[in-house]
Amino acid sequence: MASKAKTPPDISSLTRSKAAVEHKRLALEIEAHNERYYQKDAPTVSDAAYDALRKRLEAIEARFPELVTSNSPTQTVGASPARGFAKVQHAVPMLSLGNAFSDEEVAEFVERIRRFLKLGADEFPAIVAEPKIDGLSLSLRYENGELVRAATRGDGFIGEDVTANVRTIKDVPNTLKGRNIPAACEMRGEVYMLKRDFLALNKKQAEAEDTVFANPRNSAAGSLRQKDVAITASRPLKFFAYTWGEMSERPADTQHGMLAWMEKAGFTVNPLITLCKSVEDVLKFYRKIGEERASLGYDIDGVVYKVDRLDWQDRLGFVSRSPRWAIAHKFAAEQATTVLNGIDIQVGRTGAMTPVARLEPVTVGGVVVQNATLHNEDYIRGIGNDGQPIRDGVDLRVGDTVVVQRAGDVIPQVVSVILDKRPKSAKPYKFPDKCPICGSHAVREEGEAVRRCTGALICPAQAVERLKHFVSRLAFDIDGLGEKQIQEFYDDGLIMHPVDIFTLEKRDSRAAKKLRDREGYGEVSVRNLFAAIDARRKIELNRLIFALGIRHVGEGNAKLLARHYGSIENFRSAMTEAAAAQTEEGNGSEAYADLNNIGGVGDIVADAVVEFFAEKRNVKALNDLLSEIEVLPMEQARRDSAVAGKTVVFTGSLEKFTRDEAKASAERMGAKVSGSVSKKTDLVVAGPGAGSKLKDAEKHGVKVISEDDWLKLIEG
Ligand code: IVH
Repeated sequence: MASKAKTPPDISSLTRSKAAVEHKRLALEIEAHNERYYQKDAPTVSDAAYDALRKRLEAIEARFPELVTSNSPTQTVGASPARGFAKVQHAVPMLSLGNAFSDEEVAEFVERIRRFLKLGADEFPAIVAEPKIDGLSLSLRYENGELVRAATRGDGFIGEDVTANVRTIKDVPNTLKGRNIPAACEMRGEVYMLKRDFLALNKKQAEAEDTVFANPRNSAAGSLRQKDVAITASRPLKFFAYTWGEMSERPADTQHGMLAWMEKAGFTVNPLITLCKSVEDVLKFYRKIGEERASLGYDIDGVVYKVDRLDWQDRLGFVSRSPRWAIAHKFAAEQATTVLNGIDIQVGRTGAMTPVARLEPVTVGGVVVQNATLHNEDYIRGIGNDGQPIRDGVDLRVGDTVVVQRAGDVIPQVVSVILDKRPKSAKPYKFPDKCPICGSHAVREEGEAVRRCTGALICPAQAVERLKHFVSRLAFDIDGLGEKQIQEFYDDGLIMHPVDIFTLEKRDSRAAKKLRDREGYGEVSVRNLFAAIDARRKIELNRLIFALGIRHVGEGNAKLLARHYGSIENFRSAMTEAAAAQTEEGNGSEAYADLNNIGGVGDIVADAVVEFFAEKRNVKALNDLLSEIEVLPMEQARRDSAVAGKTVVFTGSLEKFTRDEAKASAERMGAKVSGSVSKKTDLVVAGPGAGSKLKDAEKHGVKVISEDDWLKLIEG
């Protein structure tokens, strides 16, 4: 910890009004952390720091009980369910556990139980000690042995329905085994990911420039709560069963008996669980597990002790949000001291600039640590995302001696600075205002913690992702030029900027190694590719604007801009004028006011568009592109046409249209064109030689018409 750390005032010295202020601040902070942890799977503080906040809040409430309100974080568990999944009310609430941090607190826990149960001096309540799995808890409802619903904890009372996702987890049986199955039974336990699976998944995600998770817990939570079940199915999720909710009858009368039954019913129960007969036994288990912790395949953040006899559990009951019959004995976060050798900036695919601490290598809990994320520039300055000081508000400087911590997390954090050891020469870190990769200016939008590179089209760190966006379905949508091909052509230096797509053929004719000689290509496919590119030399303004990949300019905003400016010339000259007038204080130009006045375009979008045009190299990339393409006015889809809103599939060889023309004609009429037939298809237009799609149409009962019928339909 920082040797000059400001310790908060002792609670016994707080006046009531000071306590009320701090209570409110702590409650808000804990709630913000809850939301980040439970709903966004993206916590910003270690478990130890979070526990310390809760402990302080509890201590304040113990001294000033009148401050306890029903929505204080001490009275609720977790956070309300995230939007997007149906809500499920738990038949029996999913409560939380109280914490013990020392041997004394564990001994007190046992003493409390003995007093409550009025046990004799030599009577020890047998205790089951279980590793505390660091994942997310899940409730599985079985009716007559069949899994009918799976729900996350949510706020402990109402969780999210994740049944479809959970059915993809191998450790969760769909049907319970054995004879002794209660008619209604809710099994509970922890979904988690093995550390090695988490690392492999992150590697894959990083390669695809997709979400990289901070630790196995977040990765398990993020993988479970996918709207697309196929994604969950592809993730290596595991499940340990350890408790239950509603149970029409109990198959055993002890915790260890219940665990044995769970195993017989088809669940995986943690193999390290041990029945203890004394406090010494309990603490021995804690120390043994603590030593094995780094080499276990999964993260644990402590040990859970539970009274073995269920009749005693029933008598002991609950106090506020946690059982009196169980407690979590937490592990201290693993920490070490080292030197901050440097700060590097990484640029992600959206231009987000993330500072990374380069540390003198040090071993923390058996793992060598040499990098740590520093999140963003505020974090370096000692401020959290919520504006609250972190590390007591002490900034980080290159040369500082720092304390790093792994609290069950694989990605370590810099938790404090040892100010006494700060070299005299250490200067406050100046976060770069230029992208270290491409030199474009880097801006930070109001209310955002992240600074971003504005070189959308030219920054190599972003370029390939931008190019993928450029050819995506709602942008240039070029047949045969998808994400895979863009990546390959980019890696080989063939397509670096959007204009390169349209000069590909010209350059290929002069190249020694022709495209047709590439693996996976041939005469025909290259000809088709060039034809598809040519077909897109004429592009509607809204598609072009969307394709530029300007931040906050999605399909809808691109249409607003295209409708307003009418032509690329108008749009480009107005934006160039607005960009020239851009200053730190704002923008007083008429062009900016005009942009900002478009209904639906607010400050955020307007500023992002102007930022894009303020970067000269973006303008050059656009100008280069415009020398190769022709921009058409925005197409007005015919909302009143017979096919407006319908999904159409073209199949077979069309004789009156090229495929692209057919597609454009359908879109002009407000229809959506799809490549495959499903039950969502409204119409199949079939030319000669149509094959499997016709069969699919028949299978789904979709209407099939000829090309002539289609012409009549759209002309009529
Ligand atoms: S028993 C009434 N056993 O820890 C509470 N919980 O802080 C019953 N956890 O929400 C929970 N391993 O997500 C229990 N062996 C274990 C556990 C465990 C991990 C988690 C669980 C729970 C949280 C409580």
